[in-house]
Amino acid sequence: MTLDGLRQRFVDDLRLDYPEEEARNFFYRCCESYADMSRIDVSLNRNDSLPKEQETRVLNALDRLKTHEPLQYILGETEFYGLPFKVNPAVLIPRPETEELVEWIINDSRQVSIAVGSKLKILDIGTGSGCIAISLAKSLDAEVFAVDISAEALQTARQNAKLNEVEVTFIKGDALNPEDLFKNSDFAEFDIVVSNPPYVRELEKAEIQPNVLDNEPHTALFVPDEDALKFYKSIAEFATKALKKDGLLYYEINQYLGVETVRLIAGLGFAEVELRKDIFGNDRMIKAVSRFEK
Ligand SMILES: C[S@@+](CC[C@H](N)C(=O)[O-])C[C@H]1O[C@@H](n2cnc3c(N)ncnc32)[C@H](O)[C@@H]1O
Repeated sequence: MTLDGLRQRFVDDLRLDYPEEEARNFFYRCCESYADMSRIDVSLNRNDSLPKEQETRVLNALDRLKTHEPLQYILGETEFYGLPFKVNPAVLIPRPETEELVEWIINDSRQVSIAVGSKLKILDIGTGSGCIAISLAKSLDAEVFAVDISAEALQTARQNAKLNEVEVTFIKGDALNPEDLFKNSDFAEFDIVVSNPPYVRELEKAEIQPNVLDNEPHTALFVPDEDALKFYKSIAEFATKALKKDGLLYYEINQYLGVETVRLIAGLGFAEVELRKDIFGNDRMIKAVSRFEK
């Protein structure tokens, strides 16, 4: 089949589930991954065919897309903050909203690190693929630690640190059990604690796309309706002790719970609690300052 024919097959076969433009993009991403061909290469060679083995891989990917499997899992890779990341069903696929949180931290930290004059000490809780920890380690002069409860996620995160040539210390730990975190003697005097913890309530399941619901890890996504902020409370309580005085706590948050999350964090004694929206106009991230004396 010609490349033109293959591209049309993506559009036709995915018509019911994805807009035409997205189906075409899926096709181009497959050509890039399996045939090392850019979009321009494909356009210039539209009447040629791929070698049989590559064509079979592209068609297999199409079959999997038809079952709503996310393209990132099919290809085993994605991009976050301009960096490559391996992904698999043990880790959440990094989202653009999280890039905005990373951007906020990097912009703030460049000023702080000048003031501090030494390496920043950063902890990412619920690291998943390692996207936040690794992007921060890549952009900042920082000693970075990252925690997750999932051993499989940590294995992927370690591979990603290697892939991106950064040093991050990955540790298995439970964010809901601060005593477990404090078992690590290094867990003190952080300049920054950041987390994008699970925050989707069961009642919001109806809003979640089937490709997310059926494929991404539920331990990374869901919290009980009656205790939706449990990660925020536990991590903030841990941060009251683990952050330096004037250290910063950053969260990605549930867009429907912005006010409640701010209230919780302010109620625990954090200062200057700031709520920010993402590019879609949803309440999405919070920064707070620790004024706790050590
Ligand atoms: C929303 S995902 C975020 C992943 C990644 N940081 C990102 O931004 O793409 C939440 C992560 O928290 C982890 N997690 C869930 N429960 C946890 C717990 N009790 N302690 C530590 N990590 C936990 C999940 O395994 C998952 O990797």
